[in-house]
Amino acid sequence: KSGVRNYSTTKAPLRVAITGASGQIGYQLLFRIASGEMLGKDQPIILQCLELPQALNALKGVSMELDDCAFPLLKGIVQTDDPNRAFAGADYALLVGAKPRSKGMERGQLLEANAQIFSAQGKALNNNANRDTLRVLVVGNPANTNALIAARNAPNIDPKRFTAMTRLDHNRGLAQLADKTGCGVTDIQKFCIWGNHSATQYPDITHTTIKGSPIKNYVDDAVWVKDNFIPTVQQRGAAIINARGASSAASAASAAIDHMRDWTFGTNGQWQSMGVYSDGSYGADKGLYFSFPVICKNGNYEIVQGLQLDAFSKDRFDVTRKELLSEMDAIKHLL
Ligand code: NAD
Ligand code: LMR
Repeated sequence: KSGVRNYSTTKAPLRVAITGASGQIGYQLLFRIASGEMLGKDQPIILQCLELPQALNALKGVSMELDDCAFPLLKGIVQTDDPNRAFAGADYALLVGAKPRSKGMERGQLLEANAQIFSAQGKALNNNANRDTLRVLVVGNPANTNALIAARNAPNIDPKRFTAMTRLDHNRGLAQLADKTGCGVTDIQKFCIWGNHSATQYPDITHTTIKGSPIKNYVDDAVWVKDNFIPTVQQRGAAIINARGASSAASAASAAIDHMRDWTFGTNGQWQSMGVYSDGSYGADKGLYFSFPVICKNGNYEIVQGLQLDAFSKDRFDVTRKELLSEMDAIKHLL
């Protein structure tokens, strides 16, 4: 084990497990976590990195670079290809490692291969993680269904401790709206992503306000919303793959940090989007991992309740709900 240092601090280290640690997203993620951007500048951490055997050498190189940053908060680095070791005592788990989608491939095609990975990791989390503190974020695609598989294979862990990442979609939507209106991203409130992290997701601006007033006062163009804004957000992952020749990495890592930080420290009453265990809210089938508007407070998240969905929103909601049901059906033998 490398990287153990003795900086004086009042807090005990937290154990942060990251799978696919030497991949593209991992390479963006580890350094920001180690510098305190996720859990705070006073929170020591131990990074517990899981990789495939053939990537352990690359992981060793990443670990050497982490050492070379001399991060005061980094108290240790575990490098392993054994999920039981990677998840031992984990307080946080970022499940990134998966096969990324390549050019022209739809997420559904990745379902079966990735399902195997996430059922094994769910079991390893169940047997090794710190069940009282654990927060799991699934980034690897198809993220919502992978979260479902991992959670269902971890019967002793509260399913609410598993989440799937739609924060990148949320951030993408904010950026598009800021660009269209000339406002800052922090001026935009009550925006959300419903459903799956896929091309069926529904980025919903029907409740959105800008600087406290309804978004209609800034964008009164239903055609732009339907034919430009929604498809741009839905297809952004594919657009980046086409442009870069590889899937988004730095923006995905940034969204993962936003997700975990907000879940831990709260959102100050503001909405964010998270793929969470559905309790049946708004008719999303109970048990699906479905993106909802959430507010985080006191280390927990709550689905925003009481929203009215218009006919257009209901249609879009149903499309993405049905896609998640069909993904669940395709991997039901692993549940
Ligand atoms: P990558 O191929 O660069 O890295 C993946 C890493 O995971 C590799 O190093 C690989 O060795 C490792 N890995 C594979 N199977 C593993 C296993 N069973 N255990 C441990 N490690 C394993 O890919 P990437 O660009 O970092 O993307 C990772 C995943 O994140 C992909 O599934 C991608 O589609 C997804 N993604 C999700 C979002 C989102 O918003 N939810 C955004 C971007 C990317
Ligand atoms: C993304 O949204 O950038 C990723 O999920 C990559 C993809 O496959 O679309």
